[in-house]
Formats: sequence, C-alpha cells, structure tokens
Amino acid sequence: MPKDTTKLPCFVKPHNQGSSIGASIVRNKTELARAIKIARRYSDKILIEEYLVGKELTCAVLGNEEAIALPVIEIVPKKGEFFDYESKYTESGSDEIVPARIPKRLTKVVQELSIKVHKAIGAKGFSRVDFILKENKYPVILEINTIPGLTPMSLFPKAARAYGLSYSELLDDILRLGGE
Ligand SMILES: Nc1ncnc2c1ncn2[C@@H]1O[C@H](COP(=O)(O)OP(=O)(O)O)[C@@H](O)[C@H]1O
Ligand SMILES: [Mg+2]
Repeated sequence: MPKDTTKLPCFVKPHNQGSSIGASIVRNKTELARAIKIARRYSDKILIEEYLVGKELTCAVLGNEEAIALPVIEIVPKKGEFFDYESKYTESGSDEIVPARIPKRLTKVVQELSIKVHKAIGAKGFSRVDFILKENKYPVILEINTIPGLTPMSLFPKAARAYGLSYSELLDDILRLGGE
C-alpha cells in the first residue's frame, strides 16, 4: 500500500497495459484504494504518477538510426475525463488535431524528445510517443508505443498524412525499414 504521503490528485495505471485499460484519475483516498484494486486486476506492478494537467500530445517517429518525427497530434478527449478506452475507440470519442496547437518551439522539443526515446530503446521502423504538456508548458513523456495502431483511422497514419505520406506509402516505408 502506498504511504500516506502519496500526493493527490494522482494517476494510477497497471505497468503493462495499453488502451488506457485499468487506468484511473484519483482525487481522494477512497478513490486511491479503488484505483489500485482496478489496476491490480491487470498487473501486480502498478504506476502511481503525478496527475498531469495540460494538453495531450502524441508524436509518431519513422526510421531506425536515421529517424524523423512526423507532425505532432493534439488529442482532445470528448467522452471521458482523460484519453480513456471510450475516448480512444468510440466514434467521435476525441478530437485529434494535427498539427497540435502549440508554439513551434514546443513542437520541436516534442519531436526531438520522441526521436531520442525511439533511439534510446532501440525501436525499429516506427513508434509513437505519448505526452502530456504539463501546464501547457512542459512536455512530460507518458510512454512509447512500439507497435502503435495502424488502422487507416489510427493516429500514426493521421500524422503521416499531415506529413504528405499516404497510407500505402506509409506501409511501404514501415516494411522497408523493418528489413534494414
Ligand atoms: N500521469 C498522468 N496524468 C494524467 N493523465 C494521464 C497520466 N498518465 C496517463 N494519463 C492518461 O491516460 C492515458 C493512457 O495512459 P498511457 O500511459 O498512455 O497508457 P496506455 O495508452 O498504454 O494505456 C493517456 O493517454 C492519458 O490520457
Ligand atoms: Mg498511451
């Protein structure tokens, strides 16, 4: 059990899930116990993080040693309080705005950080890095998705289109990079 010093609000999630499964915002001690119980359904290790408030961003990276970052996407959840399962997978659950409505300088920082993470973990071909722009000023990395969604509606193809790459061109690139 976390110590009483756990700062609230916080964000609780299992360490090994995706699609926001088992994740909760926690505002008081009762919610904390409940959130831990939910996260434990999926994993014996859970993450208890500072609850970050600010724009949610995601940045697609394409390449291996030579990698490029695609235009940054801003995510505005419309269904839930955060980018939860429903916001992710229901029709018009969220708005996905590309390019993100943030200053150019911050776009550059987010893109550079994404490439750094991609290389640091040795991601191959493609990846997508999720961020919250804390207080709309400080980019905080939430996670890297090493196999991001690739349906024509997914975030990665959306960023590729904004960059000028069609869906089939993107798939060709990913296949080619996988063989490098
Ligand atoms: N520390 C946090 N503060 C606020 N919201 C968070 C935090 N961590 C995650 N979230 C929200 O939960 C969603 C899912 O978390 P994430 O770490 O990206 O895991 P996954 O997408 O693999 O489930 C994020 O897109 C974001 O909306
Ligand atoms: Mg995520």
